[in-house]
Amino acid sequence: MIDHFFDADLAPIALVINTRTGLYFDASQVQRARSAIQRRMAGRRLTSGAAYARLLETEPEALKELILELTVGETYFFREGLQLDFIRSTILPEIRARLGAEHSVRAWSAACSTGEEAYTLAWILREAGALGAGRVLGTDLNPESLRRAGEARYSAWSLRGGEAGENEARKFLDPVGDRFVVNPSLRKAVDWRQMNLATERHPMGTPGFDLILCRNVLIYFDPATIRRVAGLLYSSLADDGWLVIGPSDPLLGEFAPFDVVLDHAGVFYRKRTPTVYVSTNPLASLPPTPPAPRAPLPAHRISDPGRPPALAPLEALSAAKAAYSSGAFTRAADLLEPLGDRADASALRVQAIAKTSVERAERACSESVKRHPMDGPLHYLHSTLLLALGRDAGALVALRKVLYLDPTLAIAHHLMGSLARKNNDPAGARRGFTNARAICLALPRDTVLPLGDGALAGELADAAAAALAELSGGQP
Ligand SMILES: C[S@@+](CC[C@H](N)C(=O)[O-])C[C@H]1O[C@@H](n2cnc3c(N)ncnc32)[C@H](O)[C@@H]1O
Repeated sequence: MIDHFFDADLAPIALVINTRTGLYFDASQVQRARSAIQRRMAGRRLTSGAAYARLLETEPEALKELILELTVGETYFFREGLQLDFIRSTILPEIRARLGAEHSVRAWSAACSTGEEAYTLAWILREAGALGAGRVLGTDLNPESLRRAGEARYSAWSLRGGEAGENEARKFLDPVGDRFVVNPSLRKAVDWRQMNLATERHPMGTPGFDLILCRNVLIYFDPATIRRVAGLLYSSLADDGWLVIGPSDPLLGEFAPFDVVLDHAGVFYRKRTPTVYVSTNPLASLPPTPPAPRAPLPAHRISDPGRPPALAPLEALSAAKAAYSSGAFTRAADLLEPLGDRADASALRVQAIAKTSVERAERACSESVKRHPMDGPLHYLHSTLLLALGRDAGALVALRKVLYLDPTLAIAHHLMGSLARKNNDPAGARRGFTNARAICLALPRDTVLPLGDGALAGELADAAAAALAELSGGQP
């Protein structure tokens, strides 16, 4: 993928950059990236790409100076006003209604560049009375940008987002000569930290952030890094927390189990563990139990769930998710019925039906897997429904299909192990748990596992290790 855009000599350099930072240059960016690399190589008096790649691997300073050249720090105060209005009108009221007006909203501006976004966010929170004693965290890969963020001196260029944003920013900016300095009380409300989203972990322990802005950076990452960063952002959110990405950033719904909220201001994400009747989280004991109901979404802001089913597929899916989240399962299933040619919509429909009848859900699922025979998640859902109905032999067949389609699905291996243990097959149980553990140990502990209903790799590795110890009568 990388070699495709770079000539052979520069390809090893692009590979080091990608591995260390997740940055990826598509056809439109490659010329700029090539020039930056050539400038830094000349600065180091090197002419061979391979030699420069070795230097980047071994000398952190060399990598740092190249990253400074490569990262695009484009930003300004009150960027994307519609999104900020949505934060004010919907996200903050929702958080405060749920956690109380006294709650200090925990917010993170990830990839904040020179700080305009983090100060904007701190101001909005403070104006809404939602900052309290809290502070906004601003992180970026580029240490020079963070130094400038801490310095908090800006030129008029940082106010280029239009009159409304400029007027508002001037409320916390003091003019000093031809510069604008953020006033001290707002400066104190933001902490800065260097952080590489592509390689590092959750910057705050539980309970995580109520609100994360990660805008206009995902666009620079390759798909594997986007997936990783989506998992990081998901696991860094508090339950029911909100994520805002940039309007041009790639959609994240496929990469982590977010709830997607569509509004005219854009696409927003929430960490709301999917409420399936049959829990697919293998950390739950067998047979699975229904999860507790969750607070409904602020339905008045979600794309109108009352519209007739002539919605475009994406809208219908979103409306169905909103209906599902607010407990309107029959309506969700009805909205999803015309979307049977989409495997994800079929899976959600099956889950909605399972809320009222596992038997009917199993029948719907068995039709759906015929329609989507290559879809692992549907087969997995089918296996959990069959298990809930006590049809273990059928569940085993469905699980085998899942693993045939994707042998790296730790969740399915673990469920295989649980099923074998239940059926007094210690060798099969050992095999299932060992495979699940090995796959999880190869991932960062906070990776959100596919199909895992929010389970993290570290949790599943521990659960599989405990199950193995139990099988060996407590012996490690
Ligand atoms: C275009 S700016 C976005 C600034 C701000 N979020 C906004 O939307 O206005 C992109 C920022 O992403 C940062 N960045 C690039 N790769 C990164 C990585 N792997 N980890 C953290 N930040 C990264 C760059 O240093 C740059 O400051």
